[in-house]
Order: sequence, then structure tokens, then C-alpha cells
Amino acid sequence: MSLHSSVRNNTHTVLQRIEEAFDAPFGGANNPLRHLGAMGLYLLWIVVGTGLYLYTVLDISITGVYDSIGYQSQDLWYFGGILRSLHRYASDAFILVMVLHLIREWAYGRYYGFRFYSWITGVPLIWLVYASGIGGYWIVWDQVAQFSATATTELLDWLPIFSEPAARNFLAPDSINDRFFTMLVFIHIGIPLLLILGLWAHVHRISLVDYLPSQQLMLGTIAALLLLALVRPALSDAPANLALTPAELRLDWFILFIHPLTDISSPAFVWTLLFAVTALLFILPFLPHPKAEPIAVVDAANCSGCSRCHVDCPYAAITMAPHPHRPGFKIAAVDPDLCASCGICAGSCPSSTPFRRQEQLLTGIDMPQQTVNGLRQRLEDALAGLEGPSRIVIFGCDRGADAKALAAPDTAVISLMCTGILPPSFVEYALRGGADGVMLTGCRSGGCDFRLGDRWTAERMTGQREPRLRSKVPLARLQLVFASRNDGKILAAALQEFRTRIESRAPSDGPLPPYFRRTSHHA
Ligand code: HEM
Repeated sequence: MSLHSSVRNNTHTVLQRIEEAFDAPFGGANNPLRHLGAMGLYLLWIVVGTGLYLYTVLDISITGVYDSIGYQSQDLWYFGGILRSLHRYASDAFILVMVLHLIREWAYGRYYGFRFYSWITGVPLIWLVYASGIGGYWIVWDQVAQFSATATTELLDWLPIFSEPAARNFLAPDSINDRFFTMLVFIHIGIPLLLILGLWAHVHRISLVDYLPSQQLMLGTIAALLLLALVRPALSDAPANLALTPAELRLDWFILFIHPLTDISSPAFVWTLLFAVTALLFILPFLPHPKAEPIAVVDAANCSGCSRCHVDCPYAAITMAPHPHRPGFKIAAVDPDLCASCGICAGSCPSSTPFRRQEQLLTGIDMPQQTVNGLRQRLEDALAGLEGPSRIVIFGCDRGADAKALAAPDTAVISLMCTGILPPSFVEYALRGGADGVMLTGCRSGGCDFRLGDRWTAERMTGQREPRLRSKVPLARLQLVFASRNDGKILAAALQEFRTRIESRAPSDGPLPPYFRRTSHHA
């Protein structure tokens, strides 16, 4: 194993533990670590909203800006001051969330193959975010602004782009004028616009994007930012004076960390570091990585053009094209670059039902490495071998808790590449074929490697999404357990509890398992 893989795996393990610890107080749907992209977008909207307010009330001139922002913070502290603080703290939180999001995607190995595009489009965003953040500090035109502007231009001077230290010259006393300020504001507003454009590109090949976190998470986040704004309002330093060198400054380490870093090293070191990290991020997807799995295959004769697979695909890899043999009909078409090989499409296909009498079960869209026909065969073999008073079939997600360890004479375990590949009709087929109960395991809420597998499974089984589990299937005979790789014990306990319930022969119209009493998809 390479050094990179071992560092990545260790980071993955640590991150997963932390995320799971956060699940306890927050729950999967409200766990910020499981929704970092959405948190980033939410914070960005706060930054944009508060920024627009500041833009309209500030006197954007070299002589007026300092006093006008001071007026907001002091005289209008209860409104303008709070919005200013929100602008600052949401920016810091945005950077924190972006860095965590990057580390998480890397640690989970989500930077190559079908995720190549999301990763590559993410890298330039980091530069845009920092350029905008640093520029934002200059607008205040206090001593922090002066220090940051001088330090940045010194850093820029090191690059061989200016024939003379031009960048530095314009920071001489009297060299700062209103035109410079207008340019600054233009940059500080223009770059976020580019950022929004970049973010659109970043997510546009993902379907059903997690655009916003849950309501509770949004309320909690804004409440925390407001509290911070009240307890520690964002204030300006002393006004800038280019004739003096700023002494003690309160630096924002999230955004301006680069200046102390330059102080303790050198511009050469900082640029080398920045370019090396950026190059590394760009190169990562091209490093050797596990061979791609076979992608979904459409069977023209069995595809009805219903477009359920197109709707359910988490990576927008399926489009609907004109059917080659049936005029006026559509057929699913898979984009090999985008297909995640998760099988969620096969689980959504109405033809994927084991009740069809075909000897070789053919469906509209299938996975070569785990066909629906193979799944039916495995289920039939498992049912034939089950013995005991309460026979249970477990369909276990390979990426969640290890269900294989639970195999026993009365418990058959069928592993799936993602729970989302399982059409609900298989549950009914198993129950009709002799199983007393069916247990379905998937990753924890918000933890599906393919984004939507746990959600679609829950919605299909609870009748909220096509293909639905038929309403006559006794829900008391079905147990959904969303458990991660570290949740082996939870899974074993859930199986024990399920078995006890089945053995007590609770009437099928008795109380439903807790999962089914919920209306949301979140476990
Ligand atoms: C600038 C701040 C960023 C924001 C606001 C942001 C936001 C998002 C959002 C909303 C998603 C979709 C999540 C979902 O629906 O499951 C996403 C996905 C993704 N982002 Fe970012 N992102 C940012 C920066 C980055 C950076 C810097 C990288 C890495 C270089 C990155 C890598 C990815 C990857 C690989 C995915 C795909 C995840 C998957 O396929 O499961 N993002 N991002």
C-alpha cells in the first residue's frame, strides 16, 4: 500500500468515527459533517445576503469607507453591526466547511472516476474563495487591511509577472485613491459571482443536489453565528495609515493565515507550497486507483422508457433517448463517464421483479457484476437452505455494516453493492418463498457512498417512491437497519430484536417497526 493510500485510509477511519460520534446528538439528517457541501452553499448565501446589505450602505471611497463601516458597527450595532459580523463569521465558517469538505471527499476516495468532474471543478474554487476573502479585508481600510494589502502585494511581487515591483509601488502613501477602491470592490463582488458560477459547474453533473442543509441545521447555524456576532462583534482596527507600519493586529486566521506564514518562511516557500498543493489536487484523480466496476447496461427489449432509472440515478448518468426500434418510445442511455456502478437504476426498474416467469430474468437496466437474475437465483438458493423456527433473509449493503458475519442456518445473508439495487418486489418474493422475515441493511442516513441509496430504499419500502413495496406485504416482517461499517454490534442487536418479534408471531397488522412510523426518509 502506498504512503498516500495509508494516510488516506487512516484519515478516513478517524473522520468516520468523528462523523458517527456526531450522529448521536444530531442524527444523520442534521449531522453537519454529512452535509458539508450543503452547509457551504448555505453559508455562502448568508455571506452574499449580508454582503449585499453592506454594499448598499457603505461609502466605498478611500476616505469614507472606514467611518461608514464604523457607523454600522457602533451606531447601528443591533442591525448593520450584526450583519457585518455575520458576513465575517459566515465567511470564516465557509472556509472551514470547504476545507473539511475537501478533506472528507479525499479521505473517502471521492476524487476519481465518475467523480473526476466534481473534484476537478472544486479545486479552482479554493483560489476564488481566498482571493475574495482576502480582498474583503482590504475594503475595511483599517490597519489589518493595510497590513494584508502590503503583505499580499509583496507576495505578488515575488512572482515574475511584474517587470518592476509595481504591485508594491501602488501602496505608497497617497497612492491609494478612489479608483483603486472601486477596483477592490469590483474584485470583491466579481470573484464571488465567479465562485457561484464555478459552484454551478461543480454540482451540475450530480442529480438532486444537497443544495441546503436541513431546517434544524440551518437554524442552529444561524443561531450560532448570531450568538458569536453578539458576544464578539466584528470590529475594525485603527484606520489605515500608509505612513506607519501597523503594530499589533487581530488577524483572521481562517482567511489571512497566509501572511504570518510568509513572515515565518518566505514568499518563495509560500508560492511553492500553494502551487504544489494545487498541482497535487489536480493530479490526484490521475494517480493509479482501483479498476472501475462495470457500468449499467440497458436492455432495449426490456426497457419501457418509463425513466425511473433516469430520475433515481444519483449522478445524472442516465438520459432518455429515442428508442431505436419503437418509434415514439424512449429508452434509457447510460453515460459511461458518469455511471457510478451503484446499481440504483436496476433497483428502480419496474421490470426488475423476480415474479416474472422468465427462466433467465431480464430487466430494462442491469448491472453485469450483480444481475437481477443472479440476485433472484441467490435468493432462491438461500431460501432453499434456510432452516429453523424463524427464517430470516438479510440483504446487506457491502459498504455498510458487515452482515455476512450474521449468516447462520436460520439466517441467509445476500450481499449487495448498494442497498438501492434491491427492487422492493424481492422482499415480497422472499416472504412468499418461505422467509419469516426480511432485514435490509444500508449505510447510515447521509452516509451512502452513492449519495441516495439509503434514501431511495427507505422511500421505496415505505411506499413513497416507485417501485413501491406492495401494500399487502406485512411490514412487521420487514426490518430496515441503517448501520455503518463500525456498527456490527448494532446490526447484530437489531437482528436479535427482529427475530424475537417474529417469534412472538406479532400479528402483521400490529404496531409497525419504528422506522415505518416516520414520514421522513431519515433513520
Ligand atoms: C467552495 C466550496 C464548495 C462548496 C460550497 C461545495 C459544494 C458541494 C455540493 C453541494 C456538493 C453536492 C453534495 C451532494 O449533493 O451530495 C458537492 C460535491 C462534491 N464536491 Fe464540493 N463544494 C465545494 C468545494 C469543493 C472542493 C474544494 C472540492 C475538492 C477539490 C470538492 C469536491 C467535491 C466532490 C468530489 C463532490 C462529489 C461528492 C459525491 O460524488 O458524492 N468540493 N460539493
